[in-house]
Amino acid sequence: MLAPVQAMEPRMKQVLVIGIGAGNPEYITVQAINALNRVDVFFLLDKGEEKSDLARLRREILQRYVTAPKYRMVEVDDPPRGKTASGYREDVAAWRAKRLAIFAAMLADELKDGECGAFLVWGDPSLYDGTISILDDILAAGHVAFDFEVIPGISSVMALAARHRIALNRVGETVQITTGRRLAEGMPGGADNLVVMLDSAGAFRALQGEDFDIYWGAYLGTGAEVLRAGKLAALIDEIERLRAAGRAEHGWIMDTYLLRRPRSA
Ligand SMILES: C[S@@+](CC[C@H](N)C(=O)[O-])C[C@H]1O[C@@H](n2cnc3c(N)ncnc32)[C@H](O)[C@@H]1O
Repeated sequence: MLAPVQAMEPRMKQVLVIGIGAGNPEYITVQAINALNRVDVFFLLDKGEEKSDLARLRREILQRYVTAPKYRMVEVDDPPRGKTASGYREDVAAWRAKRLAIFAAMLADELKDGECGAFLVWGDPSLYDGTISILDDILAAGHVAFDFEVIPGISSVMALAARHRIALNRVGETVQITTGRRLAEGMPGGADNLVVMLDSAGAFRALQGEDFDIYWGAYLGTGAEVLRAGKLAALIDEIERLRAAGRAEHGWIMDTYLLRRPRSA
């Protein structure tokens, strides 16, 4: 007697969230390179003026590291985050809902069962990036079924420390990572070393009367990289000039800095 034919379960969609490093194509791990080579569909979300520069880096990474290209690309514009009268939290929630709908549609329509899709995340997916939480929300809502994996990359924070040849903490000290928006509300109490990201307004200006060392880096890992380190009060004007000049030249800027109180004698 013939064995009954087993009904084939459709194979699960696989999704990879791959950290690609924060600007230098060599800021990528061997694990990430192996992951890139498994991918059938790359989902690319780009925004505004950074778009062409970031897209160029992603293309370069794929050209360099994918040895037998078999992938498709699905490119979508990241919806801009609107500024409405309702306030920051509401604006972020509305923006996240739009992104969630876009991600869910891409995963449902563009990735076949059994295929592997990937999101290439700038730097490392664990820092100020919404990809993982959006995928969690899609799974929780039951919109689309998939398995997902996260592959770490070198974040701008690691790049900043390496380029300044520093450790983020001195012996036994804490390191805190925050945003320019939060710093503008006040220096967090108890922070020995404060890394500031996403500071479009230059929140460090408010600390000019205080004794801080700053380690600042813009366009880290790229050909346009700029670094400055020293006393905050002495560097504020120059850093503001460099930020304005960078924006004028490139149309966008990404900078990160470490603020640290000098060691007491
Ligand atoms: C949305 S967050 C993404 C962070 C990213 N996931 C990471 O691991 O670096 C963007 C912020 O990261 C920082 N950043 C990212 N790339 C950078 C770079 N190449 N140079 C300096 N800062 C960078 C900036 O503070 C920027 O505002």
